Amino acid sequence: MTTSPSPTLYPDAEGIAQAAAFLRAGQLVAFPTETVYGLGADACNGEAVAAIYAAKGRPSFNPLIVHLPSVQAAQRYVIWTDDADRLAQAFWPGPLTLVLPLREGHDLSSLVTAGLSTLALRVPEKASAQALLEAFGGPVAAPSANPSGKISPTTAQHVLDGLGNKIAAVLDDGPCSVGVESTIVGLDGTPALLRAGGLPLEALEAALGTPLERTSTPESHTGITAPGQLQSHYAPKAPLRMNADNPRSGEVFLGFGPMACDENLSESGDLHEAAARLFELLHKLDARGQPIAVAPVPTHGLGFAINDRLARAAAPRPENRQPT
Ligand code: TXA
Ligand code: MG
Repeated sequence: MTTSPSPTLYPDAEGIAQAAAFLRAGQLVAFPTETVYGLGADACNGEAVAAIYAAKGRPSFNPLIVHLPSVQAAQRYVIWTDDADRLAQAFWPGPLTLVLPLREGHDLSSLVTAGLSTLALRVPEKASAQALLEAFGGPVAAPSANPSGKISPTTAQHVLDGLGNKIAAVLDDGPCSVGVESTIVGLDGTPALLRAGGLPLEALEAALGTPLERTSTPESHTGITAPGQLQSHYAPKAPLRMNADNPRSGEVFLGFGPMACDENLSESGDLHEAAARLFELLHKLDARGQPIAVAPVPTHGLGFAINDRLARAAAPRPENRQPT
């Protein structure tokens, strides 16, 4: 872990090689994916994985997603199923994480799974993420690159603002196109939605041919089985209020659709645009230090994940009120 400001690398041959070398040396490298920036470490190096938890201030019971460049590479670590095959063929590479039973004889650090018998796997699509994973040649553990409980980063600057003095480097490849984290599906038993995210539920259910058991909904986010689905998350410093038709005095107003507001998720009411801008605008409004009111956002498609993130940002958070 470094204490001086970390260098910014760019996704050219030299930057990718340097980022992969840092990972090989057990250092932390923040890198872009199409969803959010990840805080990457060699998943087989226990000290490197421990450094992720330390940098984020993350509760140690919260397991990490392992990132791999291809379906074949991912299959080595888990007991593969027909449903996994269906979803991987349809959506990998992409904003989907699958949780499957861990295969025996793997060489992952046990800190990655936080002692669970399942593993969360993802094959990201963004070309610079693919290039880094190929160059490194092994599994990369990566949570979102933000201090635990805070807003997820969708630009390299967000990463530097939150974790700049705790990482070896950030690989800057511009803003993330999806903007919310991957959708997590549990396949250790009945297929279940563990976290709404960048891949809409409707698309998943169409590919599976059956409805997913829902353990996470925007309306009720208490019975969640992904250990990381702590109720308060993605929290700005100031309080946030959802489904506001108008701002109250002193509030800044985050709009959706044509309306008067301080910032707008999407003037045209496009949920993809809204997801891509969500964390960027929360970071921006948070910097103003005032309470945030957010206009209603529909709950279909990517709106499901957007409402989930807003509900967590709005949730009571006694320990999270102060910036860390
Ligand atoms: O889009 C994303 O998924 C980003 C990028 C960097 O890939 N990563 C991300 O990681 O959002 P993180 O650590 O912020 O969220 C991962 C979630 C956590 O809520 C964790 O509890 C859950 O995945 N998770 C990890 N392993 C799990 C497992 N074996 N079973 C259930 N949930 C698991
Ligand atoms: Mg996160």
